[in-house]
Amino acid sequence: MLSIALQSFLLIPLLFFGSLGLGNSLSLSTSARWVVDMASGRRVKLSCVNWVAHMQPMVAEGLDKKPLQDIASKVASLGFNCVRLTWATYMFTRTQPVKFTVAQSLNSLGLGEAAIGIVSNNPSLFNLTLLQAYDAVVDQLGTNGLMVVLDNHVSRPQWCCGDNDGNGFFGDTYFDPEEWLQGLDIVAKRFSGKSQVVGMSIRNELRGPRQSETDWYRYIRRGVKKIHKANPNVLVIVSGLNYDTELSFLKGTPLGVNLDNKLVYEAHWYSFSEGNRLVWKTQPPGQVCADAIRRLEDRAGFVMEGDNPVPMFISEFGVDQTGENPADNRFLSCFLAFAVERDMDWAMWALQGSYYLRNGQAGFEETYGVLDGNWDQTRNPKFQERFRLLQEIIQDPRSDTPTYHIIFHPLSGLCVRVNENNSVEASDCRDRSHWSYEGGQAPIRLLGTGLCLGVTGDGLPVTLSSTCSSEQSNWSIVSSSKLHVAAKDVEGRALCLEINSSNSSTILTSKCVCSIDDNNCDENLETKWFKLIPTNLKLN
Ligand SMILES: *[C@@H]1O[C@H](CO)[C@@H](O)[C@H](O)[C@H]1NC(C)=O
Repeated sequence: MLSIALQSFLLIPLLFFGSLGLGNSLSLSTSARWVVDMASGRRVKLSCVNWVAHMQPMVAEGLDKKPLQDIASKVASLGFNCVRLTWATYMFTRTQPVKFTVAQSLNSLGLGEAAIGIVSNNPSLFNLTLLQAYDAVVDQLGTNGLMVVLDNHVSRPQWCCGDNDGNGFFGDTYFDPEEWLQGLDIVAKRFSGKSQVVGMSIRNELRGPRQSETDWYRYIRRGVKKIHKANPNVLVIVSGLNYDTELSFLKGTPLGVNLDNKLVYEAHWYSFSEGNRLVWKTQPPGQVCADAIRRLEDRAGFVMEGDNPVPMFISEFGVDQTGENPADNRFLSCFLAFAVERDMDWAMWALQGSYYLRNGQAGFEETYGVLDGNWDQTRNPKFQERFRLLQEIIQDPRSDTPTYHIIFHPLSGLCVRVNENNSVEASDCRDRSHWSYEGGQAPIRLLGTGLCLGVTGDGLPVTLSSTCSSEQSNWSIVSSSKLHVAAKDVEGRALCLEINSSNSSTILTSKCVCSIDDNNCDENLETKWFKLIPTNLKLN
């Protein structure tokens, strides 16, 4: 059940990257737990960002700040290959929004400044209808080589989500199931000719006192069939209960609808998803992370396993991009460790640095926004390096031969490499070295050489050594969170890999403080979090 703390968070906001050569006939489908390009069978990893267009004005945010083509090219240049673009049912089903122009919508809400901004940045959109403006956004994203997932976010346009906002579950004040089905049908048909539209999210964050499994099956089964019939090319992306965190009921009763390999499930994950964001700040972080991942796997990730695996799209995750929230910072390191290792499809919350209108405030700033309030720069200057590996395909479903290991440091987003001087350093993951590691207690070797990582001492740089049989080069994954990599120094003390300061690229080893039993340790150890990730990517 959701706690009060969660609800209050949700009332305030509710709330999370290669590039794809987009041919004319892109159509995705699923192969076991992977999303693949239907024509070639090659994996396509959804690395998306959420872009909001479901708020009261029903206009994609930010068009008052920058020209549409600039925003779309910014999204692509940040390494995203896709946008989860939200929409409100009413925009397509109700007479007034259908006829409204962008100008009328903004003026009706008293948003004069936003109107002036759109006239200056996007004059050609100003007198379009809301639907035409939405089409223009979808078209521009396609022009920039980006895929689009259309997400039915709410029925009545407004900020999402609260337990009692009338938009939470089938039968709530604004959420008429028949109107929702009609909306899905209209949207599926309207965009069926646009190959960049690769998926439709059926409904965001079902929730509230009315939610029930019975009604979930009843309406979701109708919804998925509706979309699939109207546009058999799109992925149909299905969310669960409790704000898109709960699908475990599927273990007992499968959805049981054949969508010809178009079914994908989605889940959301935030630091506050379980109602208590503070645990991320106050409890031992390794343990909090391990527990949270276990619950996520149990409630949602399990769909990727078993006899009938289905892809799991983490369609929202996000953090305060200012870096000022310690709980979010830890959550993000944990999320990256998980999502990179599992090579998830994902969509970050969110692109928008500001809203035309939120909480009654014009120009409301979004601290979760990848972009700043002026839609100029990333809010977090380290944004690209932090998310680089997450944006990459790490597992190739067509290859079952492991090739090498990546050593990933989620706090920085960097990978371990050996530089020209044979020093071991943290670097942009595109320049990573290839490692081999057999697991258990074993050397971590630089692939294709006789060299391996070696401990020199507490607080000293890790070295590349040719004596790979000593204790000092015998590494194991320690701690219950499996986030620490340790070997022993000459005195037999366990030392762990560490990047000591975020400004430094040097990789050290230092005492494995509380990594052996991190149940009772609340020291911040993210500097010591590393993941040894096996990949089956071809070596070039
Ligand atoms: C919008 O339409 C009005 C009325 O026809 C016109 O006066 C105005 O110049 C148009 N604005 C833009 C930005 O095209």
